[in-house]
Amino acid sequence: MSGSQTTYNDKVVRQFAVMTVIWGIVGMLVGVIIAAQLVWPELNMGFLHFGRLRPLHTNAVIFAFGGCALFATSYWCVQRTSHARLWGGPLVPFTFWGWQIVILLAAITLPLGFTQGKEYAELEWPIDILITLVWVSYALVFFGTVAKRTVSHIYVANWFFGAFIIAVALLHLVNSAAVPVTLTKSYSAYSGVQDAMIQWWYGHNAVGFFLTAGFLGMMYYFVPKQAGRPVYSYRLSVVHFWALIFTYMWAGPHHLHYTALPDWTQSVGMIFSLILLAPSWGGMINGIMTLSGAWHKLRDDPILKFLITSLSFYGMSTFEGPMMAIKTVNALSHYTDWTVGHVHSGALGWVAMVSIGSIYYLLPKLFGKTEMYSTKLVTTHFWIATIGTVLYIASMWIAGVMQGLMWRAVNADGTLAYSFVESVKGSYPFWAIRWLGGVLFLSGMLIMAYNMFKTMAGGKTQDAPVVIPVAHHA
Ligand code: HEM
Ligand code: HEM
Repeated sequence: MSGSQTTYNDKVVRQFAVMTVIWGIVGMLVGVIIAAQLVWPELNMGFLHFGRLRPLHTNAVIFAFGGCALFATSYWCVQRTSHARLWGGPLVPFTFWGWQIVILLAAITLPLGFTQGKEYAELEWPIDILITLVWVSYALVFFGTVAKRTVSHIYVANWFFGAFIIAVALLHLVNSAAVPVTLTKSYSAYSGVQDAMIQWWYGHNAVGFFLTAGFLGMMYYFVPKQAGRPVYSYRLSVVHFWALIFTYMWAGPHHLHYTALPDWTQSVGMIFSLILLAPSWGGMINGIMTLSGAWHKLRDDPILKFLITSLSFYGMSTFEGPMMAIKTVNALSHYTDWTVGHVHSGALGWVAMVSIGSIYYLLPKLFGKTEMYSTKLVTTHFWIATIGTVLYIASMWIAGVMQGLMWRAVNADGTLAYSFVESVKGSYPFWAIRWLGGVLFLSGMLIMAYNMFKTMAGGKTQDAPVVIPVAHHA
């Protein structure tokens, strides 16, 4: 508050925005290290080997980097579109500090080998409880702010952020149910095929809600803002919303093709994955077409370049995903680097790029500047990141298809044409290219950090006054 005038709570946005860049660097550095360990196995030293560092990478990039980006952008967006200061008083800083403690605990416990063994839900039960407390506080702050809005309308970006918050709470609570044995060890409440089914219901919706719905919220706010144009079709955005959240929930079994899961369940997963193409592309088209009449801005606005390129990668990975969900295609792609390529076309091309673009939009505004310290460096970052992403995913496609074909090749007498180690040998050049792509992407993040600290230097960090719409003053 300043005097009698209410201000937006930009402090927490500032904190989360800065930590997005820091955690991005940490998480991607670990990615580069594990990529190097696959090329040069002697880099697996002591307990800091691939098996321990891989979950550290996935947790750091998804929950630390992606999570901080989602907190920062959702808090900025919900205040600006509700014309209200964040509700919740001390709950707001609790979401920031609580989330940072979760991240630090993850960074300590994962390399030490404490894990529930469920992918993307590795953290042990005491940390799970802290996550629940932070998440419930986040929900209270977000929906509390929506509830006290001074406009009647709830902007569509908030629908996506809201769905992401509710779905992640549900997924986390159900999948993390476990029986604790000691402070650092617990056993899942489920067993056998039910455990697998629940884990991949969680896993796929972690992709659908943590890595997609929240970032679509970002897209619906920052693309129109940066383009200076209204959303292409508001009606399409509403159809997009309901179709996407309904369909995602059923697609999880595509992670369990050809397993002990009943065959009909696998088919349900496959069919819903194919249907998912439509809402995904509806969203992508809505985002890209928002630029109608402003295409020329793409030529020299690097922030818009990040945002629009991220949508293209989103379109690519949501075309590829449904194809990989077809059982016969999955028979080739599963267990191979094709999956890893698909993951990173979504993770680097979509999630990281849309976050980077949105954070570049926010930084000058948060630190009392009109633009970033160097727009040229933003452009450099864009090209390095794009080339890095393309190197990463193209090398993984080639390696993945090669691996799949080598594993299934048989001689005339029915024996395998290749030993497994021959496929490993064949993969080396592509793993080296993936490492190079990662180094490029990480270098871009370091450039971003430099640009960010230069932008922050000497700026005024006053919070902006809340704008109450004229009609409501009366
Ligand atoms: C229409 C949308 C999508 C569909 C139908 C889809 C489908 C699939 C399929 C079939 C797999 C391989 C499962 C396997 O063989 O084990 C997969 C893996 C994966 N996808 Fe997607 N995908 C979609 C979009 C995305 C996006 C946008 C992202 C990231 C932002 C993403 C992240 C992942 C991840 C992380 C995995 C690996 C899971 C694991 O095994 O650890 N997907 N997806
Ligand atoms: C510099 C950038 C990055 C590099 C070099 C990198 C590297 C890697 C490597 C080497 C793996 C292990 C692959 C394997 O097991 O064979 C991996 C897995 C993974 N990474 Fe990254 N990564 C980067 C950025 C990201 C980002 C930004 C995200 C998410 C937003 C992400 C999400 C994941 C996920 C979900 C997996 C597990 C995939 C699976 O189980 O199929 N990565 N990454």
